[in-house]
Amino acid sequence: MAFMILYGCAIFLFTISLNEHVFANSCKNDNCTAAIDIPLVTKLNAPLKAELDISVLTIQLKELIVNEVEQAVSIAMKNLAENIVDKRTQSALENLQTFNNLTISTFQQEMKDVTARKKDVLTMQETLEAEIKQMKEQQKLIELKLSGVEAEVQKSTKRVAMTAHPSLGRRISNTIMKFDDVKYSVGVSKLSTYMTTGKFACEHEGLYLISASVMSHTNSARYYIVLNGDNISQTYIGQQSGSTVFTGAVTVTRELNLHDKVWLYAEGSWYLYNGLFSKLTVIKIK
Ligand SMILES: *[C@@H]1O[C@H](CO)[C@@H](O)[C@H](O)[C@H]1NC(C)=O
Ligand SMILES: *[C@@H]1O[C@H](CO)[C@@H](O)[C@H](O)[C@H]1NC(C)=O
Ligand SMILES: *[C@@H]1O[C@H](CO)[C@@H](O)[C@H](O)[C@H]1NC(C)=O
Repeated sequence: MAFMILYGCAIFLFTISLNEHVFANSCKNDNCTAAIDIPLVTKLNAPLKAELDISVLTIQLKELIVNEVEQAVSIAMKNLAENIVDKRTQSALENLQTFNNLTISTFQQEMKDVTARKKDVLTMQETLEAEIKQMKEQQKLIELKLSGVEAEVQKSTKRVAMTAHPSLGRRISNTIMKFDDVKYSVGVSKLSTYMTTGKFACEHEGLYLISASVMSHTNSARYYIVLNGDNISQTYIGQQSGSTVFTGAVTVTRELNLHDKVWLYAEGSWYLYNGLFSKLTVIKIK
C-alpha cells in the first residue's frame, strides 16, 4: 500500500506532509494510532525510488509496543490483582461470615447448653433440697417415734409396786384409811407422803392393779377405793343386819396418770384390824 502511494505523482508533497505528521507525533500520550497508519519516509533520493526510513517508526513501534505491553500488563496485573484481592476478600469475607456464623451458632448453642445445664443443676439442686428436707422430716419423725418408743419402753419397764398395812388396830370413822406400815415397795419415791396422808400418788403412769383386803368384826364395816375423789369400788366387811357375810376384799384395775391419787376411805364407824390382817397392794402391771 505504501509503495503504491510512492509511485503516484503527489509523492513529494505527501511525503513532506507525512514527515511533518510523523515528526509531530509521539506515543507519549498513549495515542499512536495516527503515527502508525502511514509509512514513514524521511528522505527521497530518486523520483522513483523512495527510501523509507523506518527508524522513527521502529522507535515509535517500540515505544508503542512497550506502552501497550505496559498497559496490557498493567491492566492484566491490575485485573489479576483485583481478581486476587476480590477473591481473597470474598473468601475472607465468606470465611469471616462462616466463622462468624459458626462462632455465633456455637455461642448460641453453648449458651443454650449452659442455660440447659444451669436449669438441670437448678432442678437437681431443688430435687436434692426437697429430698434432704423430706429426709430431715423423716428423720424427725423417726426420732420422734423412737423417743416415743423409748418413753414407752421406759414407761412399761418401770417397776412400781407397794404393799402396806395399818400399823395400829383401832376404831376408825368416816376417814381416809392410812396404811402406814409399808412392808415392801419398789419404784415409789414419795413413800413418806403416802404414809402420812394415806394417798398413793402415781409417779409413773401405766396400767395399775389396786387390791385391798381389810378385816373388821364390826357390823356394816365398809370402805371405798377412791381415785382422785371418785369412788371406784365399795366393799362391805363381816355381817350386815346379822345375816349376810361379805368378803372384805377387792381388786380393781385402772390406768393411772402422773399425779393421780388412790386411797381407801372408811364409811361409818368400825374397828380396823392391823398388821397382816389388813393390807393394800398397788402394782403397776404395764
Ligand atoms: C487520539 O487520537 C484520536 C484521533 O486522532 C483523537 O480523537 C483522540 O482525542 C486522541 N487521544 C488522545 C489521548 O490524545
Ligand atoms: C450466616 O448466617 C446468615 C443468617 O443466618 C446466612 O444468611 C448466611 O448464609 C450464613 N453464612 C454462612 C457462610 O453460613
Ligand atoms: C363416795 O362415797 C361417799 C360415802 O358414801 C360419799 O359421801 C361421797 O359423796 C362419794 N363420792 C362421790 C364422788 O360420789
